[in-house]
Amino acid sequence: MKKLIAGNWKMNGDLDSARALIADIVNRVDADDDLQERFEFLVCPPTLHIGSVRHALYGFPAIKLGAQDCSPLGNGAHTGDLSAAMLKDSACSYVIVGHSERRADHGEDDALVQAKAKAVLAADMIPIICVGETDAQRESGEALDVVSAQLKGSLPDVKHYDDIVVAYEPVWAIGTGKVAGVSDIEEMHAHIRGIVGPKVRILYGGSMKPDNAGDILRVANVDGGLIGGASLKAETFLGIARAGL
Ligand code: PGA
Repeated sequence: MKKLIAGNWKMNGDLDSARALIADIVNRVDADDDLQERFEFLVCPPTLHIGSVRHALYGFPAIKLGAQDCSPLGNGAHTGDLSAAMLKDSACSYVIVGHSERRADHGEDDALVQAKAKAVLAADMIPIICVGETDAQRESGEALDVVSAQLKGSLPDVKHYDDIVVAYEPVWAIGTGKVAGVSDIEEMHAHIRGIVGPKVRILYGGSMKPDNAGDILRVANVDGGLIGGASLKAETFLGIARAGL
């Protein structure tokens, strides 16, 4: 199983910068056989930029296209929303669901995240289901229980979890420059592995950078990374992958 290096561009950039960023990523991956052999790459631009990024990825399957969110509902009268079917139609193959910023900014709970994950699967795409504890929850020793409960509530009720990805993103590590310790990552990923089984890719996310990625990507049960800030530059995004070679 190739490790998945996923870039979450969040609400950043404009059309020009999105085009420039994807062109830079494509050129660098195209020129590097080691990266292509060892990793699967994914970029999740702002939804408005998906069409342009898709254009740049034609004929280049080493980099997949994904979205940062979707509606749990099918097409219909839902102003402002985007269905999983629309994202599939725009060549997305992954959708991030339940990111902690959506849980915090939009009050998304586990039941909604589960409904979104189901909609993504029904549209023949792979949901990246995000879980992770807060600072206070880790301090009080609840991290494993919190993540168990989030997974129980957010995982779609399917027999085999082969077609999902789980991203462990401690909330206190996202965009803060603080990174979870390698032994904490190892403990949490083993815990998640026990719940989701052997075939699910489990990503780490939270302030990954080229200089900490090597240690993180070598931890048992870490099958890749979900990268925010450092995914906005091709050099740091691919530097993270290169650190894991
Ligand atoms: P960060 O974000 O790499 O900027 O910490 C990670 C994420 O939120 O997916």
